[in-house]
Amino acid sequence: MTPDRHRLHDHLLDPSGGLVYHLRALRHRHGRWAPFHRVLAGWLAGWQPGRRELVIVGPSAGYGLPTGFLARFGRVTALEPDPLARWLLARRPDAGRLGFDRLDCLAGTDGLARLAAAHPQAAILFSNVLGQLPAPGGDWRPLLARHLAGHAWASYHDVISTTTAPKPDCAGLGVSDDGSLEAVLARFWPGGTLPLTDHDTFRLGGERPRRYAVWQIARRRWHLVEWADNTGAAPHG
Ligand SMILES: C[S@@+](CC[C@H](N)C(=O)[O-])C[C@H]1O[C@@H](n2cnc3c(N)ncnc32)[C@H](O)[C@@H]1O
Repeated sequence: MTPDRHRLHDHLLDPSGGLVYHLRALRHRHGRWAPFHRVLAGWLAGWQPGRRELVIVGPSAGYGLPTGFLARFGRVTALEPDPLARWLLARRPDAGRLGFDRLDCLAGTDGLARLAAAHPQAAILFSNVLGQLPAPGGDWRPLLARHLAGHAWASYHDVISTTTAPKPDCAGLGVSDDGSLEAVLARFWPGGTLPLTDHDTFRLGGERPRRYAVWQIARRRWHLVEWADNTGAAPHG
């Protein structure tokens, strides 16, 4: 049995999801969110982990997942504490092979190890969740490297958030960039000081190639989102 510390408890008013998130999605998913969701659809189409089983962590109702994405896998397990999100996710047309698990894989420094042990053959998708929760021990990178090195995992996550508008032509732009955080920010924001919240997730996948896009989540709030893909051979060096 899962010990209580690793049990995913229901949260309807979670700061990183819950009712507020559903109301935002209702309002923006076909408008402000759509350009980022188009970029995300491209990232997910390019992600071919070669596994029949998918574990998706923090999917909410699957607002960012393109139609048909869940049907790519023979078995899908979602880890999601929001009961309304689970209810909505299960009603997607592509959710035929979807089930839910109660493991909180983001709790404690051994949460990801438990996830790996419970789903040894699965591909794992962290669905905009790692930039939302503080990492046990302060940093997700060593935990991912230690516990999931042998897994095909990918993550899209907030790197920074800000109330400063990016350059006007950024909506729907996805870029590959191996530069510093400052260099990546300069691709999207005009020069000068950028007041921001750092989500401590830059280069979450280490030295592997990474991609970036800006997501306008609300009228005056933008996130820089990173796509990290741990699938396939590690780069040399
Ligand atoms: C910012 S939302 C992202 C929702 C969705 N993936 C998207 O991209 O629109 C973060 C999600 O993570 C979920 N979450 C929070 N803590 C979690 C945990 N410990 N394990 C799994 N999911 C969690 C929240 O309920 C919420 O649905």
